[in-house]
Amino acid sequence: MDQTQSDALVFFGATGDLAYKQIFPSLQRLAKRDKLVGPVLGVAKAGWNLDQFKARAKDSVEKHGGADPEGLPKLLNCMRYVDGDYNDPETFRQVRQQLGNAKHPLHYLAIPPSLFGHVIDQLKISGCADGGRVVVEKPFGHDEPSARALTAEIDRVFDEEHIFRIDHYLGKNSVQNVIFFRFANSFLEPLWNRQYVECVQITMAEKFGIQGRGAFYDGVGAIRDVVQNHLLQVLSNIAMEPPPCTDVEALRDERMKVLKSVQTVEKQNVVLGQFKGYLDEPGVKPGSTIETFAALRLHINSWRWRDVPFFIRTGKSLPLTATEVFAKLRQTPPVFSEHVMPQNYVRFRLGPTPAIAIGGSVKEAGDRLRGCMVELEAEQQCGKDELLPYEELLEDAMQGRQTWFARRDYVEAAWRVLDPLLVDKPAVHAYEPGSWGPAEAETLVKDVGGWSNPQ
Ligand code: BG6
Repeated sequence: MDQTQSDALVFFGATGDLAYKQIFPSLQRLAKRDKLVGPVLGVAKAGWNLDQFKARAKDSVEKHGGADPEGLPKLLNCMRYVDGDYNDPETFRQVRQQLGNAKHPLHYLAIPPSLFGHVIDQLKISGCADGGRVVVEKPFGHDEPSARALTAEIDRVFDEEHIFRIDHYLGKNSVQNVIFFRFANSFLEPLWNRQYVECVQITMAEKFGIQGRGAFYDGVGAIRDVVQNHLLQVLSNIAMEPPPCTDVEALRDERMKVLKSVQTVEKQNVVLGQFKGYLDEPGVKPGSTIETFAALRLHINSWRWRDVPFFIRTGKSLPLTATEVFAKLRQTPPVFSEHVMPQNYVRFRLGPTPAIAIGGSVKEAGDRLRGCMVELEAEQQCGKDELLPYEELLEDAMQGRQTWFARRDYVEAAWRVLDPLLVDKPAVHAYEPGSWGPAEAETLVKDVGGWSNPQ
């Protein structure tokens, strides 16, 4: 593993939405901790100059977490900017010039996937790729063949150890903690299998709509935006076997093994939806059938999980914002009269406020043997040392650490699970904003007592 410290960060798509909401706040924190070595060079075609770019960074951090009196000046001090077209070789000559003496730049491509191949070629021609690394934003391709083609394009310039496929869910402490909590405690693993678990539901609900990102979202939809990447990564962490050691590849091998055992999804096990009003959003094509809601029933063909249904559900304009894993445990035999006890469960709330909870039955007050559900919940306080997902991942990439990045075979396997849906798409049902999606989604969970909605 090449652990040479990157000595410059080149940031394509620097004037975009992702930069504004997530990247500048992370860079400010990295600057504060002196983790940015060399220049931070923004590249975009916005007709801006360096002062405008710095003003954008300042505005971004003020709106997202606050300006830090130490971190912000440090960040502004190392910022550079190149304004230019990605199709123009001159843009890349200027990038190389601005890099000065840097020998190991990290190139971060926060740009539409259709531009990746071209930008990568230009990085090579201009010499910017020499000694460097590349970070590629998701979605990586739009199906399995395009992911393979993209990998082949990047391979011409960078080798695998210098390619970082970023998925910010892997940088979330709560998502990493799923693995940690499972294997650092002795009480959960004995239950974590087909004998005790009846079903697992992963819900990523968002109260907001597409927030002005119509042009991007309408080319992607919920499956490509969050299911193929964020939610399959969560599923892998929930379902994986313990890795034999903490070696980078050992962990990535186990996540990969889960996907290998996930059956390709079948059309009858999927319900798609679109919130009413989506078609009026700027940037959305007239009559678009892009899904803003998806619910899937998946099967993992492994010794541990065979016959345990795994559900993934996500949507925009749902009643609240929360990402949660809910594992329902099997019913106990009816020892206490005919009364059916509420089923036990384990709940991982991954955001916005991480928590872990266990649901159990206690005897109701009174002389009858009836049970009622109580929950033991531990809220995970975000310590002051907790890193923002992009902060952690960019630091890792600059130091050559691949653990929390998606490997090429993983990305391809994730597309393999979903590709049939993208080719032969199920009907898209309209749903009311503020509801839990189309009523049709209930049919998927009929045999497991319905959805467990995050509260
Ligand atoms: C992004 C998606 O990757 O993740 C967005 O493009 C989504 O559509 C976002 O809203 C959710 O991230 P988080 O960290 O807020 O759960």
